[in-house]
Amino acid sequence: PGGRGSGMPNFDNTFLLLFEGYGWLPARRRGASGEVVHTRVMGQRAVGLRGPDAARFFYDEDHVERGTALPGFVKSTLFGHGAVHTLDGTAHRVRKAMFMSLMTGEGIAALVDATTAAWDAAAASWTGGRRVVLFDETARILTRGVCPWAGIPLDDADVPALAADLVALVDGFATLGPRHWRARRARARREEWLGRLVRDVRGGAVTAPPGSPLDVAARHRDADGELLDARVAAVELLNVIRPTVAVTWFVTFAAHALHRWPRHRAALRDGDATLTEAFAHEVRRFYPFAPFVGGRAVRELSWRGERIPAGALVLLDVYGQNHDPRLWEDPYAFEPRRFVGRRLGAFDLIPQGGGDPAAGHRCPGETVTVALLRALVTRLARLDYDVPDQDLTISLRRVPARPASGFVLTAARPAA
Ligand code: HEM
Repeated sequence: PGGRGSGMPNFDNTFLLLFEGYGWLPARRRGASGEVVHTRVMGQRAVGLRGPDAARFFYDEDHVERGTALPGFVKSTLFGHGAVHTLDGTAHRVRKAMFMSLMTGEGIAALVDATTAAWDAAAASWTGGRRVVLFDETARILTRGVCPWAGIPLDDADVPALAADLVALVDGFATLGPRHWRARRARARREEWLGRLVRDVRGGAVTAPPGSPLDVAARHRDADGELLDARVAAVELLNVIRPTVAVTWFVTFAAHALHRWPRHRAALRDGDATLTEAFAHEVRRFYPFAPFVGGRAVRELSWRGERIPAGALVLLDVYGQNHDPRLWEDPYAFEPRRFVGRRLGAFDLIPQGGGDPAAGHRCPGETVTVALLRALVTRLARLDYDVPDQDLTISLRRVPARPASGFVLTAARPAA
C-alpha cells in the first residue's frame, strides 16, 4: 500500500484525490522514492512538493504560473472566473495591489470592531438553554461584520441567506456532488447582485463609502488601464467577503481545540496576547483547511535532482507541510507554545500560502484572519457553555473539513 499511483505514473489520481481528501498527497508522498510525488490528476501530469525550500521554489514566478492551472470547477465555485488567483505577472501585481491597499492597520481594526460588536450582540441571545450551532452563528456574525465594512448594504433579514451562500462557495469547491451545485448557484446569484451594485456605484445611484472595498473595486483600473468589468469587480468583492466569512471554519476549529484541550482556555480568557496569537497560529497549522495550492510548470524544471516536465501541474502540499515532523516537532500534538519565540520564515507556516503577499499569490487576508481569530477566540474563551453529546469528528476525507455537528453549545453565559 502507500505506493498507489506514485509507482504508476499513468494512473489518474483524480478519483483518489476526491475520495482521500487531505491524506491524498501525503499518502502518495509516503509511497514515493524521493522528494517529489509524481502522479496524474484530471488527465494531466502532476508533481507534489513539500517543505519551505519547495515552497520558495513553487512561489518563484519563473517556475510556476497560475493562469491555466485552476480547473473550471474551482473557478466556478471558490474563486470566480477572472479572479486575482488566476492572473500572472504584471496583471497579477496590479490587481493584487488593490487587495493589499485594503489591508491596512486601520482597515483591519475597523473590521475587527464591527465583527466583535456583531459577536457580542449575537452572544447576548445564546442564553436560556438555547442550542447554538457555533459554525452557523459565526458565519452570520462574520457576514454582519464584513458587509458594512466592505461598503455593501445589507438588510438584517438578508444576513442568513448571504451567510449560507458565502459558506456554500467554500464548501462546494472540492466535490462534484450536490454541495458543488449549491456553490455554483450561490456564485451566480451573488455575482449578479454585486455586479449590479458596482454598476449602481459607477452610475451614481449608490454612494460607496470612500476607501471601502466596494469603492476601491468599482474604481480599480487593471494593468491595461481599464476599469474592471462589473462582473469581475463582483468576483473580487466576493473574494473579500467570502474568505472573511470562511474564518468561521477556524473559529469552529478553535472551539473544538478548547473542548479537547481545555488547559489552553485560561490564557485566552486572561487576554494573554502572546499565547492568543500562538493559539491562532496553531489552529491554522493543526486543523485541515486548504489541502494544497497549485500552478503549472512554465518550462522544464528540476527540483532536488528530479525532472518536472514543462506544463506539469505543480502542487504544494499545504496540509502535509503543516504536519511535517522535519518542520514541527510532534506535529499531530496541538501545542500553541511551539509558536512562542519562534521566528517564522516566509515559507514555514503556509495554511494561507507562502512568500510575500504583495509580490506573489500568498493570501492578502492573513493578517485579517489572525486578527479576527484572536478577537473571536478570546470571546469564546470568556464564554461559559456546555457541550452536549454530538458528533465532533472531523473527517479528513471531506474537503473542506469541519466538525460534523458544526459544534453545538448550550446554556451560554458570559464567564464570571
Ligand atoms: C489566497 C487561504 C482568508 C483573500 C489564499 C490562498 C490560500 C488562502 C491557501 C492561496 C495562496 C496561493 O495560491 O498561493 C485562506 C484561509 C483564510 C483566508 C484559510 C481564512 C479562512 C482570507 C481573507 C481574505 C482573503 C480574510 C480577504 C479579506 C484572499 C485573496 C487571495 C487569497 C484575494 C488570492 C491572492 C492571489 O492570488 O494573489 N488564501 N485565506 N483570504 N486569499 Fe485567503
